[in-house]
Amino acid sequence: MDKTTKFWDRIADSYAKRPVADEGAYLKKLELTREYFRPDMQVMEFGCGTGSTAISHAPFVKHIHGIDVSPRMLAIAQGKATAAEIENISFECTSIDAYTPPDEGLDAILGLSILHLLDNWQAVIARVNSMLKPGGVFVTSTACIGGVMRLLQPVMAVGSFFGKLPSVQFLKEKDLLAAFTDAGFLIEHQWQPKPKQAIFIVAKKPE
Ligand SMILES: C[S@@+](CC[C@H](N)C(=O)[O-])C[C@H]1O[C@@H](n2cnc3c(N)ncnc32)[C@H](O)[C@@H]1O
Repeated sequence: MDKTTKFWDRIADSYAKRPVADEGAYLKKLELTREYFRPDMQVMEFGCGTGSTAISHAPFVKHIHGIDVSPRMLAIAQGKATAAEIENISFECTSIDAYTPPDEGLDAILGLSILHLLDNWQAVIARVNSMLKPGGVFVTSTACIGGVMRLLQPVMAVGSFFGKLPSVQFLKEKDLLAAFTDAGFLIEHQWQPKPKQAIFIVAKKPE
C-alpha cells in the first residue's frame, strides 16, 4: 500500500464523521452540478471518498461510478449506498491514473477536493477531457492555496514525507483555469463561495 493510500485509509473513519465545513456552499454546489445532469447520464467521480456526494447525486443520473485509492473510504461509501438502497451506484478501488473509462466515454466527471492533492493535476485535467464524450462536463472544487500559504510548503512537505499529511499542491487560481483551457475545456461556471475557500468550476468539453 503506498503512502497516499495509507494516509487516506488511516483517516477514513474520522473523515466520515467530520461535518461538512460550509453546508450552504456544499448544497449549492450539489444544486449547480445537477443543472448539468440528465437522467440518461453515465457519471464518474474520482477521489469519491466516503461516497456522500455520489450517493446524493445518484437519483438524478442513470449511473454513477465512484473511484478512490482508499479501500477503507470505499468500504464506508459502499456501506452508505447499501443502507440507502441506492442501486445505480458502483465503486472501484483505483487511482485516476489507472482507471479505464467505458469505450463510449462518460457524460460527466466529478473531482471534488482532489486536484490539489495530485502532483500530476494538469495531466489529470487533460486525461479527464479525453474520457468525456463531446459536450460532457467536468465538475471540480479545488483549494487554491498558492498565495501566502505557499510559505507552509516546507512544513507540508515534511508532514507528507512522514505520512502525517497528504501531499498538497499549492495551486494558483490562474494556473488552474489555464490548465482547463489548455486541455480544451470551456469554463461554464466558476464560483468561490467565500475568499480562501475552494473554487468550484464546471468545465465543458466542446461538442
Ligand atoms: C480530500 S478527500 C475528498 C473526498 C471527497 N471527494 C469529498 O469531497 O469529501 C480526497 C480523496 O481522494 C482520494 N485520492 C487521493 N489520491 C487519489 C488518486 N490518485 N486517485 C483517486 N483517488 C484519490 C483519497 O483516498 C480521498 O478519499
